[in-house]
Amino acid sequence: LENAADLGGYASDRILKRLAAGTLRTLGVATGSSPLSLYKELERRWTPALGALNAFALDEYVGLPPGHPESYASVIRREVTDRLRLDPAKVHVPQGNAPDLAAACAEFEAAIAAAGGIDLQILGIGRNGHIGFNEPTSSLASRTRVKTLMSATRVDNSRFFTDEHQVPRHCVTQGLGTILEAREVLLMAQGAAKAEAIARAVEGPVSSMCPASVLQLHPRATLVIDEEAAQQLT
Ligand code: F6R
Repeated sequence: LENAADLGGYASDRILKRLAAGTLRTLGVATGSSPLSLYKELERRWTPALGALNAFALDEYVGLPPGHPESYASVIRREVTDRLRLDPAKVHVPQGNAPDLAAACAEFEAAIAAAGGIDLQILGIGRNGHIGFNEPTSSLASRTRVKTLMSATRVDNSRFFTDEHQVPRHCVTQGLGTILEAREVLLMAQGAAKAEAIARAVEGPVSSMCPASVLQLHPRATLVIDEEAAQQLT
């Protein structure tokens, strides 16, 4: 597609179609810049069925104080819960401050299962091929767990903080195995900075060195990308 607005339009068409067909009850949502055009478009085209969705976020930083504006709980509230007028009780974000993070990760997986699984998962992609915060070397079968952020990811995300040192070193993220269980996946990416990751994900070997390549194993995964992000595809 040509630009960010087109990406949002295309992805929102797909979501609204599934809502109308009654096959979308639980949406997996990503933070970051890539899906913002989608959330804005869904806000514009809002329907009561959209407001009735359950939502599960992909990831959260470990250790940010509660209410920190850049915690993913705050970002999801601003960009997703508020725009899509979701019931906050139906929006789940992994906990980055739980005293027992491993137990909180297991509870998050159990909450996804109790909701009947994720019908459609929105993803972005990191320049290093990460999805969620599954950095290169993540097990292809991994579940929600604590991960260490790579320094390239912390540099990329420092744009949301005063400087790179404020970006947490650890995160909690849905695993690649968790993401693969979503019934449908829409990965959104725009810009030349994502072109190499997109080419590796689509045309490279399935490898933990490019975590997004695991989507080659998914029966219903669509990459919604602009021309610049597509420029290294053969
Ligand atoms: C966000 C997430 C990340 C981002 C990725 C791309 O919840 O899990 O994988 O999708 O880092 O970020 P943007 O879209 O800001 O380029």
